[in-house]
Amino acid sequence: MKLSFAKPGLPRTGIVVVGVFATRDLCPSGVKLNKSLDGALSRAMRASRFMGNKGQTLSIVAPAGSRLDRVILIGLGKVSDITELEMQNLGGKIYSDTHRAVKGVVAITVDPVSGSKLNTAQVAAHLAFGARLRSYRFDKYKTKQKESEKSSLKSMAFHCGAFLNARSIFRTLDRVADGIFFTRDLVSEPPNVLYPETLAKQAKTLEKLGVKVEILGETQMRRLGMGALLGVGQGSIRSSKLVVMQWNGKPKKRGQKSKDNSPLAFVGKGVTFDTGGISIKPSAGMEDMKWDMGGSGVVIGLMKALAGRNAKVNVVGIVGLVENMPGGNAQRPGDIVTSMSGQTIEVLNTDAEGRLVLADALWYTKERFKPRIMVNLATLTGAIIVSLGDKYAGLFSNNDVLSERLMKAGEEVNELLWRLPLSSEYDKLINSDAADMKNIGGRGAGSITAAQFLQRFVDKTPWAHLDIAGVTWSKSNAPTVPKGGTGFGVRLLERLVSSHYEEK
Ligand code: BES
Ligand code: MN
Ligand code: ZN
Repeated sequence: MKLSFAKPGLPRTGIVVVGVFATRDLCPSGVKLNKSLDGALSRAMRASRFMGNKGQTLSIVAPAGSRLDRVILIGLGKVSDITELEMQNLGGKIYSDTHRAVKGVVAITVDPVSGSKLNTAQVAAHLAFGARLRSYRFDKYKTKQKESEKSSLKSMAFHCGAFLNARSIFRTLDRVADGIFFTRDLVSEPPNVLYPETLAKQAKTLEKLGVKVEILGETQMRRLGMGALLGVGQGSIRSSKLVVMQWNGKPKKRGQKSKDNSPLAFVGKGVTFDTGGISIKPSAGMEDMKWDMGGSGVVIGLMKALAGRNAKVNVVGIVGLVENMPGGNAQRPGDIVTSMSGQTIEVLNTDAEGRLVLADALWYTKERFKPRIMVNLATLTGAIIVSLGDKYAGLFSNNDVLSERLMKAGEEVNELLWRLPLSSEYDKLINSDAADMKNIGGRGAGSITAAQFLQRFVDKTPWAHLDIAGVTWSKSNAPTVPKGGTGFGVRLLERLVSSHYEEK
């Protein structure tokens, strides 16, 4: 689908979308169109319950006296409803209402609105961003799709006064969408196709955008002492990998202290399939564990978004990639492993594997890069789904400023975070009789004890952990997120970076 921006105007064919405020006030383009159609639009509104409420739509098919296929009236609600997020939602709604249109050509009219927080260029760009986000599909393995099942939408043109401006705002948003789509692709791939080596290869493709990508194999990781990560992967015939991605968009200025130029770090759990290992999971629903690499998918997609839009910032993305399988060589409950930090871990449940992978990935990141901040993402616990469902991701942090920034960025892009506590009282629960710690806590507070475990590997680094188990995969369509892999986290962290850490 082609998204374009053009000067104001009303096409004579195809589908035209016009905005309507509550209650039933057509935008100027709509008023003009209504006149040329002899009042058909106002009659259609009066003959229906369409009021112009936010997100409401009314279709007038093949209006008499014109060659148009359809006019779609779309409710804008009140002037105060014109926000970036609402415009993205409307764009997504327009896409889903028209993506099977016969001729596949849609024109959206964007008129200036007095008192609106956004100008027409911003409105047009965010409508287009929403439409693109909603247009995502993962159908590469469907070989027998009927024409009627495919999207037939060829182009969406946004007509507005400042269309050059709209084009330039959209260019940046489009690169963010590229990152989100990459994440969605990665979490959607089946686990026979996507395993540590092939996921690392996907990360490697970012080199063409200027990202430096290193892939560490098992020998190198063993030399570094990563016994926690390696223990998880040892039951699989697929060898484990650690991928280090570096985007240096803010080269060091002369005389600048290297500390001021230290990178932001994003770390992802990349369990390409989680059977649970010897502590094996029940078979019902186990297929979901293909997206247990969701955290690493977000980190890779984020790197793509930042590099794609040439962000003026230094960022490292680090993902620990393993497959958690049972087998003759698999890790046993009761094993004690030594992490890169030197701390020993008694593995009482081989299904609490994500924290073992992150323990070494976090320690490595902190030691090698001394980052300004370190944020990790992981589909870490089923317990976070019990707590928060699929509306909020869990946030844990040792730093209030970072937490506030993350929560605010989340609100701005509609990827919500809810902060949960960390404290020495919870930390105690993972002390072990046999080693420095055990990898499970008691019956309660499963997401918190998992976070306490991670905290033992970050030292004083300002750090946050996002437990994204509930938000990584969606079973139903939302305005800008079709069901399937959501890409949750890419937009949020992209916003965090651009709001606080980037040179303007
Ligand atoms: N990958 C799972 C967590 C998960 C569950 C993600 C459901 C998405 C949906 C994780 O590795 C896991 O198995 N966690 C265990 C921890 C327990 C053994 C302490 C869990 O949540 O049951
Ligand atoms: Mn598990
Ligand atoms: Zn897992």
